[in-house]
Amino acid sequence: MPEKIVLAFSGGLDTTVAVKWLTETRGFDVVALTVDLGSQPNLNAIRERALAAGALQSCVLDARQPFIERFCWPALKAGALYQGQYPLATALGRPLIAQLLVEVAAREGATWVGHGSTGKGNDQVRFDVAVGALNPKLNVLAPLRDGMEMTREEEIAYARAKNLPIEVKPESPYSVDENLWGRSIEAGALEDALLKPPEDAFRWTSSVDNAPASPAVIELTFERGVPTTLDGRRTRGVSLVEELNRLGGLHGVGRIDMIEDRFVGIKSREIYEAPAAVILHTAHRALEDLVLDAEVGRFKTSVATEYARLVYQGKWFSSHRRDLDTYVQSTQGAVSGTVRLTLHKGSAQVIGRSSPYSLYRPQLATYSAGDQFDHQAAVGFIKLVGLPVRTQAAVQGSAVTEPLLEDDRHVVEVGPGALEVGLAEPVLRTAMPGVVDPDLRR
Ligand code: ARG
Repeated sequence: MPEKIVLAFSGGLDTTVAVKWLTETRGFDVVALTVDLGSQPNLNAIRERALAAGALQSCVLDARQPFIERFCWPALKAGALYQGQYPLATALGRPLIAQLLVEVAAREGATWVGHGSTGKGNDQVRFDVAVGALNPKLNVLAPLRDGMEMTREEEIAYARAKNLPIEVKPESPYSVDENLWGRSIEAGALEDALLKPPEDAFRWTSSVDNAPASPAVIELTFERGVPTTLDGRRTRGVSLVEELNRLGGLHGVGRIDMIEDRFVGIKSREIYEAPAAVILHTAHRALEDLVLDAEVGRFKTSVATEYARLVYQGKWFSSHRRDLDTYVQSTQGAVSGTVRLTLHKGSAQVIGRSSPYSLYRPQLATYSAGDQFDHQAAVGFIKLVGLPVRTQAAVQGSAVTEPLLEDDRHVVEVGPGALEVGLAEPVLRTAMPGVVDPDLRR
């Protein structure tokens, strides 16, 4: 009996060819699994295409709600932005698809799962690692990496020869992956890191030039770290994200252009459109600044970096992520309140925030009447804070030796009471290793 494989099927050229190749060349029974994370326009057509390409069964699932609530919300609460910028849309989608592959495989008695990643990116790592973490007995096959390697032209010729139902659209100049949390765009003209991304790379966001002249003002409320209302209307995750993508996109918010450190060791130039994710991270952070104790706020930024790294590197299903989630969840008890933002010409700007748990106390912060801050207490406080450096300076001398003023020879007095002094040139001490800089003065 042929072995069964559950293949993550997007309906594009690669996976359509893969269905046939897995059937004919590798002798598998193929179950095609299409997971809608917010980007699939026509699920019925995709189901039919899978069957026409030779799949035994085709399964189409709308997973938008679990995607937002179980994957995006935890990442939002953690503040997870890879390299401080990328909200991780693709990276968060992969573990969900992997989990469904594993669960469908269990139901269908499949011993293999497959996905359409190439051998060059992060996605293969995310799929393979996630599947291994969920069911180490399953075999994973990525046709585009593991034997099927065909150029686009070869795939089209193969599809024509086998009568596969492909739409040969003009080739997209970029490689794109999209879901509700964002749109990832790479390759083609974007590989020139100096080139301004051509406007045709963007689908969700207006350019600054085309964005409306007047800003939109929005109000978001959060309950324990999760956004729950938009402009006063209680809105469930998927609709809230869709609405913010639309509105933010209109105002050009959420374009990201970065050089990214891939897990496989390459630096690559990546463009993202993620209006909702950028707005929500900005608002969530503003609310945290209001309600989190300073120690937690500071420590949590290092947790955010770690969380983003592990998601990016495909370790969603790990005890490390579970433990970080536990910490993050514990920080979110007071992250309830309202944030107002303007969306204008490409930026989302916080213009106000409030919370019943606010630690911002006007009577402590004020410079006006009613100030309750103890100014005299500051004197003793500073005495103790400065004690170690005073002690060290007295015993060992000051740690800073480079004077700002030019040496005494150049200090000239001109006129009665006037002291003319010059500022010294800074001394450059470092150069790139191996690079000899003739201008170096020491
Ligand atoms: N660089 C991003 C990441 O690793 C996006 C990858 C997008 N994938 C694609 N097939 N275009 O998460």
